[in-house]
Amino acid sequence: MAEIRIGVVTSSDSCSSGTREDTAGRALMDLCEKRGWIVVGYHVCMDDIEALTASIAEIADVDGAEVILTCGGTGFGPRDVAPEATMNACDRPAPGIAEHIRAESGRITPRAMLSRATAAMRGPVLVINLPGSEKAARECFGFVADQLEHAVEMAGGGGHD
Ligand code: MTE
Repeated sequence: MAEIRIGVVTSSDSCSSGTREDTAGRALMDLCEKRGWIVVGYHVCMDDIEALTASIAEIADVDGAEVILTCGGTGFGPRDVAPEATMNACDRPAPGIAEHIRAESGRITPRAMLSRATAAMRGPVLVINLPGSEKAARECFGFVADQLEHAVEMAGGGGHD
């Protein structure tokens, strides 16, 4: 088991203002820790493109995360900007991850098509958008988690098994 370094960024006006608890972000951190991964940074942000972009950059560049999971802000609401912030903070797309999440999620709910989630890389750091409900975040994490250690290895210049 590789000890990968994880960042979590929650995009939520209500969690940020304290009117709602960030159960999805906490669940993601818990799931990562159960795999033996280390959570090196956790931010709860307003649904604001600048704040989200800055959080992703800080957790990558200062805290040294290898994978950053965002949750929330991927829908069609006027303040849903997690994919745009992710693209701002990143330089290379990783479309297969979001494609897989949407395909698997579509078996659970047709509303999966209402996620605009993306995945991309900031240098060697992989950023993955997940939805904001705890249930959906847990499901989507489950669709990708087994591949993340290998993704980190490849991002660091390692070859395939
Ligand atoms: N994916 C899974 N696996 N399970 C879900 O319940 N909910 C969908 C979708 N993806 C869902 C899912 C819904 S209802 C929405 S609106 C979008 O994710 C966007 O969620 P977000 O705005 O919280 O990011």
